[in-house]
This record gives sequence, structure tokens and C-alpha cells, in this order.
Amino acid sequence: MDAQSELALDLRGVKKSYPGVMALDGIDLKVKVGSVHGFIGPNGAGKSTTMKIIAGLIPPSEGEILVNGKDALKNPEYISSTIGLLPETPPLYLNMRVKEYLEFCQSINMADLDFPQEHLQKMIKRCGLLEVKDRLISNLSRGYKQRVAMAQALVYGAKIIILDEPTVGLDPNAISEVRDLIRELRKDHTILLSSHQLYEVAKVCDEVTIIDKGKIIKSGNLLDVQSEFNAFKTYEAIISTLSDSLKTHLLSKDFIQGFDTFDQEGEVMLRVHVSSHEDYRATLTELLTKESRLFQFVEKTMELEEIFKEVVK
Ligand SMILES: Nc1ncnc2c1ncn2[C@@H]1O[C@H](COP(=O)(O)OP(=O)(O)OP(=O)(O)O)[C@@H](O)[C@H]1O
Ligand SMILES: [Mg+2]
Repeated sequence: MDAQSELALDLRGVKKSYPGVMALDGIDLKVKVGSVHGFIGPNGAGKSTTMKIIAGLIPPSEGEILVNGKDALKNPEYISSTIGLLPETPPLYLNMRVKEYLEFCQSINMADLDFPQEHLQKMIKRCGLLEVKDRLISNLSRGYKQRVAMAQALVYGAKIIILDEPTVGLDPNAISEVRDLIRELRKDHTILLSSHQLYEVAKVCDEVTIIDKGKIIKSGNLLDVQSEFNAFKTYEAIISTLSDSLKTHLLSKDFIQGFDTFDQEGEVMLRVHVSSHEDYRATLTELLTKESRLFQFVEKTMELEEIFKEVVK
């Protein structure tokens, strides 16, 4: 397989403008087949707009969208059976019953008429809807409506699943069920997922894209994005006192960008910020032991949340 055909989604120079707003300002987004790709960014960054464009709900103002190498704009039927979208505001028919609605979603999107019937039952179960399958959607709680919305993206067997904030409104148990579901789906699906729960994204995703003000700021393998930022490391130590001599030593080291201290019940918490990929644990622990008493020492690498704060200002 060449590099292009390994891409489930390939957006090239996609722009979307609304009167007075450039919602997307020329984005290139590549999502590999079989990956779980986290799409993160602050409110108004352009995540939902991108997702709606990929699913063919709204057209781009400019640019190309390739889905499994096929031009999405020229193949709307292929797109509707290949992509399952959980939109930000799901189009639920409130006067339908859960199962009836899901059957309806299956029938309007399905390309393969021999699609196995058990799939619907399986998804009803996987999305935690068994006990409400015969209830009117209008009478369901918010969390259950969200589960129905999730199920409608899955019932017709789409291979690319786009989830716009899937865990909004869910209780902690349901959130972990969604995480399990994503892990199960990843075996034979490609998933693009937006979320403000960066901790969740870091747990389930293997690729990540950060978008801000309609532009992509970072994109790639989660570990690569993290390791790029781990050039900025922080060592956290608890020591007995911070003497002038220790301060002078810390200030004299080229690799140290700066340090902060906090009094902590008679001891001192020292945070040393380093900008280098190298490992300074030995150098620092030696210095701290010599110049003070060292009670605790840890190396802190940047979590996705901190990277987000660093790049989105
Ligand atoms: N129909 C519309 N008409 C005008 N402006 C729009 C429309 N839809 C979106 N926008 C604007 O486009 C920009 C991107 O919005 P979008 O909903 O894609 O952001 P988002 O990243 O999904 O944000 P959130 O995290 O709040 O869901 C925003 O400035 C928004 O106000
Ligand atoms: Mg949104």
C-alpha cells in the first residue's frame, strides 16, 4: 500500500468561510486507516465545522476531501455509507422509539442490503440502550439521547466513525463505556474524535491534531507530539532549604531555563525547568544532595493538557 491509500481521510487546503468568519483557514488533515485520531482545540476552533464537512453535511468553500482516496464531494452516496457521524447537535427524531429510529438510520445510509441484522441488536447493547429500546426518544434523559446519537453513527456499518464530543453529558460510567466501545471499534474502524477531555483523548488516541482559529497547529502521532514537547521538561524536588549557594549553582547551569520554589510545611518544593531532550536526573540529584537534603525527586513530562495550553494561546 502506498502512503496515500493508507489514509482514510485526507483533507487538502480546506477552507470554510461564513459571513465575517473564516471558520477554516486552509487545513490539511491526514487520518490513517485504523487509527484513533483525537481532534482537539478551544471553543470555536473549527472542529465541528471540519467534521460536518467530512461527513458531507456542509460543503467547504475551498479545498479537497479524500475519503479512502475517493473525492468526497463527487461521491456523496459512498460518503454516507462509509462515514458514521455523531454530530455536535444530533438530529434525533423525538417522536420515534429508539429501535425504530435506529432502523430508520440504518435504512437511509446503508449501501449493503445484505448487512447483518444482528448488527443493530449488537449496537443497541454496546451503546447501553437495551432497557430503553422501545421508549420514545423525547422521554429519554440527556445522557441516553447521547447514547442513541452514538448508536445512529454505528448501526449501518460505516468504517470511518466521526465523533464530535461523544462524552458530553454522560455520567462517569457511561464515559468509560464509550472508551471501551472506542477500543473495540478500533479493531476494524478508523475513528476521528473531538473532545475537550484531553485526559480521555490521551488514553484512547494514537494520533492527535490540535486546531486553533481555523488552522492546524500540530498533528501527528500522539507520542511524537508529546516527545517534541518533552524537550521542555520539569524536574520536581522536595528539599530541606534553598541556600544562596544552591541558587547560584542552579542559575549557572546552561540547560536550566528557570526554576520556581514553593514553601511546603517547612520544606521547599523546587521545580526546575529544562529545555533539552537530555536526561539531567543524575546531575540534578547530585547537586541537590550536595547543597541541601533531598527528600523527593521526580521528572515530569508534559501531558497533552499542558501541551494544549502551551500551543493554544
Ligand atoms: N452556521 C454558521 N454560521 C456562521 N458562523 C459559524 C457557523 N458555524 C460555525 N461558525 C463559526 O465557525 C467557527 C468554528 O466553529 P466550530 O463550531 O467549528 O468550532 P468548534 O471547534 O467545534 O468549537 P466547540 O469546541 O465550541 O464545539 C466559530 O467561529 C463559529 O462561530
Ligand atoms: Mg464543536
